[in-house]
Amino acid sequence: MRRVALVTERLVIRELPPAAAAAVAAFHRESAHFHRRWEPARSTGYFEPRHHRDLLARERRSDQVVHLWMFLRDQAHSSRVSLGWRGRPIVGSITLTAIVRGAFQNCVLGYKIDARHSRRGYMREALIATLDHVFGELGLHRVEISVMPANEPSIALATGLGFVLEGTSRKFLKIQERWEDHLRMSLIDEEWRRLRLSTKPSP
Ligand SMILES: CC(C)(COP(=O)(O)OP(=O)(O)OC[C@H]1O[C@@H](n2cnc3c(N)ncnc32)[C@H](O)[C@@H]1OP(=O)(O)O)[C@@H](O)C(=O)NCCC(=O)NCCS
Repeated sequence: MRRVALVTERLVIRELPPAAAAAVAAFHRESAHFHRRWEPARSTGYFEPRHHRDLLARERRSDQVVHLWMFLRDQAHSSRVSLGWRGRPIVGSITLTAIVRGAFQNCVLGYKIDARHSRRGYMREALIATLDHVFGELGLHRVEISVMPANEPSIALATGLGFVLEGTSRKFLKIQERWEDHLRMSLIDEEWRRLRLSTKPSP
């Protein structure tokens, strides 16, 4: 089966095999404090490689999920780009879940960055490449996200990518043991094509 690997000015964005479970667990562990406010409560087992080995294997078998992982490119201007993941820290995660075909052609987008790499434009760069892939190669028509109203960084990021507020999903997800309202935002393929955003970081 074909695996996704996207290359931008500064990043390699790719799927990972179950053998990368230790790197995935380290990514989640190291930024747990940064992600915690917007995520479900995690059991200690969540931060163990074994959990991610199973999850990566399940994701590989599913045609409803594409899980992408972000890495910094070795040399941004080298013509030969290494797609290898071994020995390289993961800087971010992007999920496309609930991919539904037929008359829907829709998916749900999720994302999070390593705390030490935040605010450098990496997520915006990665999401532009990902959305090009979603509306191009994958041929989907609509992408949605759900974001807590207090999550200003995420709302600003999504708005800058053209996502439009649809409304509030009441008590939508259990975040740290409380059912939290979430804003539903969506992006449609023709809007995305009109925007023509570039992955090039602003100077
Ligand atoms: C939201 C998140 C992914 C942003 O990642 P990032 O790599 O720091 O974002 P970027 O550097 O690419 O920023 C792109 C835009 O996002 C917005 N943004 C990012 N961080 C922000 C912050 N702390 N405050 C306000 N706006 C912010 C800005 O509009 C920014 O554009 P600008 O730099 O031109 O102002 C990151 O903060 C994160 O992982 N948060 C925790 C997990 C999470 O909330 N996930 C989303 C759940 S819906």
